[in-house]
Amino acid sequence: MSPATLIVGASQAGVQLAVSLREAGETGPVMLVGAEPHPPYQRPPLSKAFLLGGTDTAKLAFRTPAFYAERSIELITGERVERLALRPGTAEGSATTSTGRTLAFDQVALTTGARVRRLAVPGADLAGVHHLRDMADAVLLRAALDAARRVVVVGGGFIGLEAAAVARTLGKDVVIVEASDRLVGRSVAPTVSDFYRSAHERRGTAVLLGSAVARVLGDAGRVSAVGLTDGTELPADLVLVGIGVVPRTELAEAIGLHCDGGVVVDRHARTGNAGIVAAGDCTAMPHPTTGVGLVRLESVANAVSQAKTAAATLAGIPPPAPEVPWFWSDQYDLKLQIAGLSTGHDESVVRGDLDAERFSVLYYRNGAVVAVDAVNSPVDYLVVRKALGTGAAIPPDLARDTGRPLKELLVPAGPNRGTHTLDL
Ligand code: APR
Repeated sequence: MSPATLIVGASQAGVQLAVSLREAGETGPVMLVGAEPHPPYQRPPLSKAFLLGGTDTAKLAFRTPAFYAERSIELITGERVERLALRPGTAEGSATTSTGRTLAFDQVALTTGARVRRLAVPGADLAGVHHLRDMADAVLLRAALDAARRVVVVGGGFIGLEAAAVARTLGKDVVIVEASDRLVGRSVAPTVSDFYRSAHERRGTAVLLGSAVARVLGDAGRVSAVGLTDGTELPADLVLVGIGVVPRTELAEAIGLHCDGGVVVDRHARTGNAGIVAAGDCTAMPHPTTGVGLVRLESVANAVSQAKTAAATLAGIPPPAPEVPWFWSDQYDLKLQIAGLSTGHDESVVRGDLDAERFSVLYYRNGAVVAVDAVNSPVDYLVVRKALGTGAAIPPDLARDTGRPLKELLVPAGPNRGTHTLDL
């Protein structure tokens, strides 16, 4: 009999996994269980167009209910899987959900995602202090923004910057408070961090770096100010906390799976138990290009490609070819596109014009291009993404010749090396 698959978590990775399982020819029952009440939806717009434009939640749904039904994917929403019980030495067992229901399965996929990190200071739970991760958060934040005048954003990562851009576009006074010495430090190099600081300041937002929050001050239960450790008090009627996320690993830990900053998986999305896979934000996986060390990639692209791999692993078919990691962020009229992983680079080349807000930064390790951050430069992004996918080189000395378009500077992989123009 075909195995019954339980997929725990019904967001980007979970939905992809269910669909890919069917595409792989799996005919057994597929149960896709999500804690949120809504059908699965896209998260990226929550900090961008959705936050700016209002509350049309229905438009965010990935698929219609009929789509799941036609594929015999049993979508269970509004129920959290609270416990997994396995028969010893197998991946078979049963799950208990928050409504007390029991679901029997032969194999499991963990696509449990991540939860927001919360500020651990007095006053952090006052009314008017918001987080932004799921649709309910975004609906609340959008309504609160309408009424707010002074907004303090704690955390200068992508969530903080995107939400700050929306708040400023809506005409609010905005201050960004970042603990480290630069913005988006986890994801981009200092040149790009400096660019974003200036870009937000030019649009009228104050950016405080190296600033720690000591307390959130309130008045009759509502936030009135954010107090910093240096004694500064920033008046606020709305605080958005965007200080990162923590992977949801509790279920994995409870059944003895190895977790280390995420559920540890191999490049086939397999956990230590051959019948249990994991995909998306909850996983720690081998570095996709070097294979050295574990990384946790918080991106739609990774959720999708890792879920496809996980489905292939469960179905026992060869996994799809690995994809080049990619990411994007929209702030005001600035479109950032990232391909590859720049961590560990030893050289970079800046092309374009930072002042004109149109440039790209190419990152190199041992002379080989490993990543690009492109702001309003979609062609450079595509060229590097293509090079990373095909193994073509873009020698740094050639890339420094900013008079020539990047697409003319590719040196294809293989014996006939010489520059080559890419047809995009
Ligand atoms: N006070 C101020 N800043 C802080 C604090 C603090 N107590 N703690 C952390 N920070 C800063 C970090 O230095 C970092 O710059 O908050 C920022 C958090 O950035 P990320 O870890 O990238 O997380 P966030 O922006 O919340 O995004 C979470 O959602 O959409 C996704 O791509 C996004 O995957 C990311 C996730």
